[in-house]
Amino acid sequence: MTGETNIINALHGKKIVLGIGGGIAAYKSAELARLLVKTGADVHVVMTEAGERFVGRATFQALSGNPVCTSLWDEQANKGMAHITLGRADAILVAPATANLIARLAHGMADDLLSTLCLARDCPLLIAPAMNRQMWSHPATRRNVATLEGDGVSVLGPDTGEQACGEIGEGRMLEPGILCAALIDAFAPKPLAGRKVVITAGPTFEAIDPVRGLTNPSSGRMGYAIAAACARAGADVVLVSGPVALPTPPRVRKVGVTSALSMREAVFGALPAEVFVAVAAVADYRPATVAAHKIKKSGEAMKLELIPNPDILAEVAALENAPFCVGFAAESHDLDAYAESKRRDKRLPMVVGNLVADGLGGGDNTVVIYDDAGRHPLPRAPKGAIADWIVDHLARLLPRD
Ligand code: PMT
Repeated sequence: MTGETNIINALHGKKIVLGIGGGIAAYKSAELARLLVKTGADVHVVMTEAGERFVGRATFQALSGNPVCTSLWDEQANKGMAHITLGRADAILVAPATANLIARLAHGMADDLLSTLCLARDCPLLIAPAMNRQMWSHPATRRNVATLEGDGVSVLGPDTGEQACGEIGEGRMLEPGILCAALIDAFAPKPLAGRKVVITAGPTFEAIDPVRGLTNPSSGRMGYAIAAACARAGADVVLVSGPVALPTPPRVRKVGVTSALSMREAVFGALPAEVFVAVAAVADYRPATVAAHKIKKSGEAMKLELIPNPDILAEVAALENAPFCVGFAAESHDLDAYAESKRRDKRLPMVVGNLVADGLGGGDNTVVIYDDAGRHPLPRAPKGAIADWIVDHLARLLPRD
């Protein structure tokens, strides 16, 4: 999620229950409530008794524009049937979800309004755990979280970092913007549900000696954006990445590699898959030999013998049971001609072409999609948006089961 403009009206017409458990992260949920209102959702806040000790109900009432419910015994609320009427929402997001609340939900307890409506619901439940790192890693919490996941509950996070108690570790609640984006994603269509997608991204690094190598300025942004878009579209995603400094997108399995040879090995290790998207800027050549020790300066000209690397995409596309293969073409000129010839030579159903000056390294890109129906230029946009369009396009071309 790059800015608040992306979320406006994204959940228009949806009724969302925001459950607030008793943790210090509850103060961040005020911001979450504000963002959810921006999505156009009808937001109803339900607080546990402990949650109310951290942030007052007036805050959430003002932000959501709806009465805040806290008790099963509040006769004012929904004719005493708050646990049923609120449970008929489009989704319930519990943030923060404390260790205690997670334990109660995992065991189907219904001893306050929030736990009761989670049990009585007929809509998706998402929880954002927030607790001390020891509590998060305790076997009891691990069991409870696994139980909830097994019951189809989406567990968002937690994050790693400094905690309210001063300790550092896993257990921080995800930031409100990320939670809001995750909720929006939960409603997005899932055209790649049940499909496995393998993606390569970033540069490769071909060692010359222990300290030097051949590489290129690919940042990995385009490939990581495609991986995130595929995960949002419901795919099971394996991202084979060269050395880059980017966080792994949610619900994506990353395999870190360095050279073209190690990238090839990781790709073939991740197959079979229904889709392969080759975004990586793979070095076409590598040094014939790698010096065991740092090469010393001699003052003389130095010759470096280079030998060809395997073409990973061409090899995958030539497999008997080849996945649906999407290639990329980064060109300095004559994009249409080179991209189309790559599509033909490697027999690819789809190629995404971009000029190096447009797409290498930065946050935006301008691309043209090539397929059997011709060329489909896309407007210049952030790589996240471009990735969503590419994934929509490939999902439409995929053979139906
Ligand atoms: O990482 P960013 O900074 O976001 O930049 C994105 C990008 C410009 C790197 C990306 O959009 C892009 O165009 N990637 C492909 C770059 C490239 O090396 O293209 P190519 O024309 O050399 O290769 C054609 C295709 O074959 C590519 O899909 C490539 O991944 C694949 N290939 C190439 C060589 C090789 N040995 N193995 C391969 O799989």
